[in-house]
Amino acid sequence: MSRLVIVSNRVPVPEKGGAAAAAGGLAVALQAALQERGGIWMGWSGKSSGDTEPGPLHISEDGRITYALTDLTEKDVEEYYFGFANRVLWPICHYRLDLAEYGRKEMTGYFRVNRFFAHRLAPMLEPDDTIWIHDYHLIPLAAELRQMGVKNRIGFFHHIPWPPADVLFTMPVHEEIMRGLAAYDLVGFQTDHDLENFAGCLRREEMGDALGDGRFNSGDKIFKGGAYGIGIETEAFANFARKAVSHAMVHKARQSIEGRDLIIGVDRLDYSKGLTQRIDAFERFVLNNPAHQRNVTYLQVTPKSRSEVPEYEQMQRTVAEQAGRVNGALGTVDWVPIRYINRSLSRPILAGLYRLAKVGLVTPLRDGMNLVAKEYVAAQDPDDPGVLVLSRFAGAARELKGALLVNPYDIEGTANTLARALNMSLEERKERWQRMMDYLTVHDVSRWCDDFLQDLAA
Ligand code: UDP
Ligand code: G6P
Repeated sequence: MSRLVIVSNRVPVPEKGGAAAAAGGLAVALQAALQERGGIWMGWSGKSSGDTEPGPLHISEDGRITYALTDLTEKDVEEYYFGFANRVLWPICHYRLDLAEYGRKEMTGYFRVNRFFAHRLAPMLEPDDTIWIHDYHLIPLAAELRQMGVKNRIGFFHHIPWPPADVLFTMPVHEEIMRGLAAYDLVGFQTDHDLENFAGCLRREEMGDALGDGRFNSGDKIFKGGAYGIGIETEAFANFARKAVSHAMVHKARQSIEGRDLIIGVDRLDYSKGLTQRIDAFERFVLNNPAHQRNVTYLQVTPKSRSEVPEYEQMQRTVAEQAGRVNGALGTVDWVPIRYINRSLSRPILAGLYRLAKVGLVTPLRDGMNLVAKEYVAAQDPDDPGVLVLSRFAGAARELKGALLVNPYDIEGTANTLARALNMSLEERKERWQRMMDYLTVHDVSRWCDDFLQDLAA
């Protein structure tokens, strides 16, 4: 089995003493694959060096894994991460062409940092290594490696949605981005829908086409593309949800809701997550359902994210004001309708809170997959499971057939679905939950990892 080399912008380096249980499913799965085969995980350290040169790689070892992190200069972080990745590719891939900000220096910075990653990675490679690159920050990396003569197998997984041609082509450098993907041996998307959009983008300007059997061509390149919906570590997550209910913070949460029905939302503070529409829908639900008034608590956990991007900074104010306004309008001396937590909670605590909640409210306007939806299902008590209310625009909606699907733009519709979820019989809840849990047990994150790597090796 060849060595595995993973490259991603963020790298979950385990803390001393191993914080594996706290890490996300993706990190757990990739770390397991790396331990099995031996390998390297390379990426950004999350720090800027402030200099014009980013300094040496920070190397650390954990069993058979070598972590190799690089600092970036302030200019790099500004242009590559905040600039092009998060102000162009992120909004475009989430269908928000109105929010994309095209600056020439950001575009140049994005390609420059990818070249820099290639130069840092190439000397560490052995001829037999399999390389797996992750997410929108690093699309041009394979093309850069190829230019340096790297012949290894290289796969790419796009964790976020892939937009239709009409959206992608508003981006001035869409051709370079598409050509960047054609330099891989295998390109993975979350859903068939993303894969179809990608094929549509290739066809639109006669850049290439689907050749059948999951193969595509573009110019003189032939490569494979496929849909591989990412999973979670289902069994492990269900286990720590069972244990987490005795965690002091979860216990306090249970006491403080005083027997009310709990609705939970967990999302980074991001415009793709549909938070303002969700709060509107909750307000409408309370107004339309006097019987539920005072008997329900909506807990929204929303860690800050990418705060240096103006749209995110603005959202922080908007969401806090909106939650405050609804609480002011509907709350009473002994009832706060919305509890809004603007920081991150650890996954074991989240697992316990998911298990307490009668409804998991997951209503992104667009999402590649949405792992929170899957975690909510895995965390439920099989004897008394809650109901997942899920946006039809999340990749997870194509897999979790037992969820109640909503259109998050339809406030009244989401409000009505919330009422339906809270009134659902135990029998129906169990039947819906079991269907989803069966699916998640088979399609967990190790299966995702194996499927992708097998196809890359084939
Ligand atoms: N998460 C967390 N603490 C928080 C909020 C979220 O650990 O306070 C985790 C959550 O459990 C999930 C991930 O962050 O594993 C979010 O993944 P998702 O696919 O839902 O959304 P993304 O943030 O990747 O867009
Ligand atoms: C999404 C992206 C990841 C990214 C994460 C957090 O899940 O697909 O690549 O790491 O959001 O965003 P951040 O900008 O903090 O890395």
